[in-house]
Amino acid sequence: MIQIGILGLGTVGTGVVELIEKNQVNISKRIGDHINIKKILVKNINKERSSLVEGKITDKFEDIVEDEDISVIVEVMGGEEPALTYIREALKRGKNVVTANKEIISKYGKELLKISSANNVNLLFEASVGGGIPIIRPMKQCLSANEIVKIMGILNGTTNYILTQMTEKGESFKDALKEAQIEGYAESDPTDDIKGFDAARKTAILSSIGFNTRITPDQIYTEGIENINPVDIEYAREMGGVLKLIATCKKHEDNVEVSVTPVLLKNDHPLASVMGTFNAIMVEGNAVGRVMFYGLGAGKMPTASAVVADIMEAIKNKNGTKVHCTCYNHLNVMDPGLAMSSFYLRLRVLDKPGVLSKISGAFGENQISLSKVFQKNTMNGTAEIVMVTYDVPFKNLQEALSEIKAYKQVVEISSVIRVEGES
Ligand code: NAP
Ligand code: HSE
Repeated sequence: MIQIGILGLGTVGTGVVELIEKNQVNISKRIGDHINIKKILVKNINKERSSLVEGKITDKFEDIVEDEDISVIVEVMGGEEPALTYIREALKRGKNVVTANKEIISKYGKELLKISSANNVNLLFEASVGGGIPIIRPMKQCLSANEIVKIMGILNGTTNYILTQMTEKGESFKDALKEAQIEGYAESDPTDDIKGFDAARKTAILSSIGFNTRITPDQIYTEGIENINPVDIEYAREMGGVLKLIATCKKHEDNVEVSVTPVLLKNDHPLASVMGTFNAIMVEGNAVGRVMFYGLGAGKMPTASAVVADIMEAIKNKNGTKVHCTCYNHLNVMDPGLAMSSFYLRLRVLDKPGVLSKISGAFGENQISLSKVFQKNTMNGTAEIVMVTYDVPFKNLQEALSEIKAYKQVVEISSVIRVEGES
């Protein structure tokens, strides 16, 4: 009998308990042993819980870490502290650790993998990226013969759900977010989802594994979806595209480009049809070509699927340290100003002769070519101008826009969104 302890009994913790109960017979056959959840750490000991966990609840970490019978500790409480201290302590005491915590793995993965190696135990974190989608082990094992040249993905279920509801049902941002929170997809602080921080953490983990170099979330150029306006969704649709929050990781000759930003994807792009809480990751290797991973990126049972599989892996792999740190390169992260992209721009300007040619002049001076220009809504003597550029370094666009912003004929620069596949 394998005894395990769980830290946290929220959305994911509850899923782990239910999945172990539901599939216990087959799980036991597959690992050749029976899993027993001995103790579960929670914050509020007085909260009402399911009968499945009766007699197992504690609010003291020591009850779990000091229990000699417990060989696997599952951290699904979230946040940085005290979870980080608990993981370190568990590994140092020779316990296998399974975690869904991207905040911790993206910032402290290297240190924690070192501690797990030194103590001959497993540190597994499949659920930290893509919820139920297998991606960490496939990247570390099945694709390990490749040089990975590009990773592109939709890595946050909450923001993809919000954008889908806004696009397909015309729902407001606020209502769609509320639904994501009720379903348990959103982080405890949903700002982490909306501002792109959660996706940046997952991007840091994936790009570190893909490019064998340590990339931390603070090195990733990040924009969220908080400024996406329904009108941009409508104009994207008119242009045959959709708006998505996209992680982009590219390997260049001597550096790596990493970002998380809203992107206007053409409808025929493989990521354009990924809707709701689904996530998808497109990995390009120099031998395999393009590989797509697709599935539910958040939620109780999809995430539990990845966590429980990690528990089983840790039990099977008795000697530990199968998932090593493989960050042997020391690659620089590219200045985001040098990253090339096509851009969608929406400006409100005075509806007068000569305004467009003035704006075009600023683009021309900064070596920016336009592939599309439309005049949209006119109201109160102003007009909305929508433009799409060809590929341009981001810093050239920023320079042109700061000049344009100063023109008295320009009321506002309303949106600046990357476009994939224009040039
Ligand atoms: P959650 O629903 O907020 O649950 C957190 C659980 O941890 C609760 O049971 C809470 O106790 C307990 N907890 C929090 N702080 C604690 C503390 N200081 N001491 C003891 N217990 C504490 O969170 P979740 O959505 O399950 O997410 C858990 C982790 O999985 C996070 O790292 C998250 O990023 C990751 N994750 C979540 C999803 C998802 O779809 N939700 C998907 C992939 C990964 P009480 O019950 O007493 O409040
Ligand atoms: N808040 C995260 C999301 C949970 O919405 O994708 C899964 O990591």
